[in-house]
Amino acid sequence: MRYKAAERLNKFQTGIFAAMDEKKEALIASGREVINLSIGTPDFKPSRHVMEAVKEAVSEPFNYRYSLTDTPELLDALVAYYKRRYKAEISPDEITGVHGTQEGMGHLGLAMLDPGDVVLLPDPGYPIYEAGTLLADARIYYYGMVKENDFLPDMTEIPEEILEEARFIVLSYPSNPVGAAAPKEMYLNMIELAKKYGFFIINDNAYSDIIFDGREGFSFLALPGAKEVGVEFFSLSKSFNLTGLRLSYLIGNKDIIDAMKLLYSQYDFGIPYPAQKAAIAALTGPMDDVHAQCLEYQRRRDALCGGLRAAGWNVPDSDGTMFVWLPVPEGYTSMSFVEKLMDETGIIGTPGTAFGPRGEGYIRFALVRPAEEMARIAEKIGEILK
Ligand SMILES: Cc1ncc(COP(=O)(O)O)c(C=O)c1O
Repeated sequence: MRYKAAERLNKFQTGIFAAMDEKKEALIASGREVINLSIGTPDFKPSRHVMEAVKEAVSEPFNYRYSLTDTPELLDALVAYYKRRYKAEISPDEITGVHGTQEGMGHLGLAMLDPGDVVLLPDPGYPIYEAGTLLADARIYYYGMVKENDFLPDMTEIPEEILEEARFIVLSYPSNPVGAAAPKEMYLNMIELAKKYGFFIINDNAYSDIIFDGREGFSFLALPGAKEVGVEFFSLSKSFNLTGLRLSYLIGNKDIIDAMKLLYSQYDFGIPYPAQKAAIAALTGPMDDVHAQCLEYQRRRDALCGGLRAAGWNVPDSDGTMFVWLPVPEGYTSMSFVEKLMDETGIIGTPGTAFGPRGEGYIRFALVRPAEEMARIAEKIGEILK
């Protein structure tokens, strides 16, 4: 007897990622050395003071109970962090913890969308943005993230009636996958458009601490008027290398936070206390590791992109994130170049098309190996381009 899954699951396509996994497994099984630059998990360690806090927390029996809510200590730590790090004023009732932005984004659609609603999502974009929308039976209008517009949304390409109908837009800079940062003016203009058309803004703040060449990593919530029209997901995953603890916070407009809290009151009994202790330690502790790691990511980017340029492949630098987004050499599609690289070098990148149709012509590499190794990887790629 076989049981059929719900129809709604047919909305999720795992095509490209499944195909990539299959190829990777075949490569490993054949005994080849594999250099996997398709992953999104940092290779850096959490800071010692964060690990110490977790160690202490797991020795305390009370911390194995349901937490039910974010603790006052955690909320205070976030409020103080936003003030110190971003110069943004937030209050404890404008925050709800989520089990990672991935989970929060998946559920936000259920809290805020009705069937048939329209949302504006980036193409190419981080795939989870679609999930909550699809689960809520809402419709997606994809805005382009293309080089011709510096990878910023071109709102003039969106028909007026779509802007009138839209419930929210998702923004995220520095951007995964395209590696571009955005100026504050883009966000300020979007706040005005949100007020004019009545949609709200969801800013995915995943990489404000991984930003290069002296650019400022900022929070959307520090901008005037932001809280009236939006929320921000603030993930601790990449800044503090806590991906597996699933720590992110949805912060901002209280109507949206309250809707999410109501949804969570049905789904969930809170974020485990030891994970909350890790977040408190990260938010209140020294930031030296965060700064040092940002510089190391920049060195890796320089080694990879600089090395590829020296080898004759004219690629741009990324402005931030733990990724680079490179136009594939002439004569290739995203997939055909990824396959050639895998077959001839064992290096695995992600085809741009995994992030949407307008990712065609690009490959994404994750900066997850030390700079010296990145330089050798660039040489290896250079060999097959001769
Ligand atoms: C843009 C972006 N948003 C969100 C996430 C996921 O964050 P979290 O670990 O908080 O679910 C990632 C992880 O790669 C990301 O790149």
